[in-house]
Amino acid sequence: MMLGFLFALQAIGLVAASSSDPSDKCYFIPLPSIPDSTDNRTIPWGEPTIQYANGTTCCSSLDEVRQQLDVIDAQLLQLLSERVSYVREATRFKATVADVNVPSRNQQVIQGAVDAAPLVHLPQIVAEIVYEGLVNSSVLFEECIFNTYVDPECVGGK
Ligand SMILES: *[C@@H]1O[C@H](CO)[C@@H](O)[C@H](O)[C@H]1NC(C)=O
Ligand SMILES: *[C@@H]1O[C@H](CO)[C@@H](O)[C@H](O)[C@H]1NC(C)=O
Ligand SMILES: *[C@@H]1O[C@H](CO)[C@@H](O)[C@H](O)[C@H]1NC(C)=O
Repeated sequence: MMLGFLFALQAIGLVAASSSDPSDKCYFIPLPSIPDSTDNRTIPWGEPTIQYANGTTCCSSLDEVRQQLDVIDAQLLQLLSERVSYVREATRFKATVADVNVPSRNQQVIQGAVDAAPLVHLPQIVAEIVYEGLVNSSVLFEECIFNTYVDPECVGGK
């Protein structure tokens, strides 16, 4: 399944690389400032933008799109769960609750995702906002873990 996923990414990458599409600028931040379109289009418009390794394309209906999104969202949930298990471990190496939030490290993680996004054809705006949410919510979770742990060695936390 993972291999199929990589092939799909590669195929999508090839489609993007072979065109000089004006929408390419939507993959970089800052997003271009363009007035709202007044078009009322006959749907589906344009051409399918996903090409699988077996030469077929996607997608031909909104239902088909949503089925694929559901599959990927289930994979993301599993990956997020694995990531958070390490976030929880990180809490064990923080001596005080004030040590939990390290803004410089947060910024490094967010910037790393923004910088790497074009390499996997991910829009930078998605990387930036998702990673901000990931980092911010991880801090809240770590603070909760720290605050709820009852340390048998430490009475009163002094
Ligand atoms: C767009 O076109 C469709 C079909 O002609 C029409 O039913 C709909 O009201 C239009 N929408 C807008 C916002 O103009
Ligand atoms: C081609 O690959 C896609 C994605 O793996 C799959 O959903 C589809 O059924 C395949 N089509 C054919 C004709 O093999
Ligand atoms: C994350 O937290 C920072 C600092 O508090 C805030 O500026 C930013 O808007 C938050 N981003 C998200 C997506 O929650």
